[in-house]
Amino acid sequence: MTSYTLLSAAKINLYLEIIGHRSDGFHELAMVMQSVDLCDRITLTSQTMPGRRLQCNHPQVPTDSSNLALKAVDLLTQKMPELANRGVDINLEKNIPVGAGLAGGSGNAAATLVGLNLLWQLGLTQIELEQLSAQLGSDVPFCIRGGTAIATGRGEVLDPISSLTKLWVVLAKYKSLSVSTPWAYQTYRQQFSDRYVDIANSATLKERQQRVHAGPMVAAIGHGEETVIGTHLHNDLERVVLPAHPKVQQLRHAMANHGGLGTLMSGSGPTVFTLVETQLAADDILAKVRADLPDSDLQLWAACFTATGLRLES
Ligand code: C5P
Repeated sequence: MTSYTLLSAAKINLYLEIIGHRSDGFHELAMVMQSVDLCDRITLTSQTMPGRRLQCNHPQVPTDSSNLALKAVDLLTQKMPELANRGVDINLEKNIPVGAGLAGGSGNAAATLVGLNLLWQLGLTQIELEQLSAQLGSDVPFCIRGGTAIATGRGEVLDPISSLTKLWVVLAKYKSLSVSTPWAYQTYRQQFSDRYVDIANSATLKERQQRVHAGPMVAAIGHGEETVIGTHLHNDLERVVLPAHPKVQQLRHAMANHGGLGTLMSGSGPTVFTLVETQLAADDILAKVRADLPDSDLQLWAACFTATGLRLES
């Protein structure tokens, strides 16, 4: 039996702008994504019996076909029918919170695709894996690529920028609270679609996509001005998630109150993060937020930025 263990990193959105509504039902986005070193651990072990099984240490994570890691196995076996007689056991050690806006599930799908490519010696290139992975979810290609990237389209079109690796982040989430991503986008559409541009007009769309490339966030990253990045954080989805969840709004306020380079909600939330320059500063803010909000439901982590989305452990 051969086995591979991969670590899949969480992602945060340093910038998330909703440009318009697409004919496939998704939203056209302009984002800056960043991998952070809070990781799930996925072990894939080849089996002589055909089929796939998943075990997970987290009670909230489904272990049936709805799990993105199993969807990744199914996608590969559909694309390559010759794999139908292969078997794999997947063990998922979940450390990234679930329903958090940190792309934990997408990272597990990314790790499964990349891991199976190794385990079953499929010879797929990284580009092929990224292209295939977009069928599993908008964030999965970024989870394979990792580091720092501009993401457009529905999130799957990636443009590399120089990786940020020096910063640290404090992440905070109420354990019992999760936000449905479809709900967040639908609600945004109901309330703010008057701001959408007509994305069928390719010149307008291109101009809006170019704005993020030419914008101050990407310029700060390009110039390596890591401390300036915090002043350009932006997430359109805050407009709908924060009013619906006053506890998250209060958490964001408490986080921002203790300084740092900037505070924002990640993705569709409800995780809130603060950027800082050092581990010491991260530990300091973490302790202060815990003291301000003494609630056993509040989970806090300190993690550094990382240039990779996936790491092979063995
Ligand atoms: O692609 P993913 O499975 O992560 O998307 C989850 C849901 O989030 C979609 O079904 C859709 O409702 C919403 N979404 C969207 N536009 C995007 C990405 C996600 O409307 N670009």
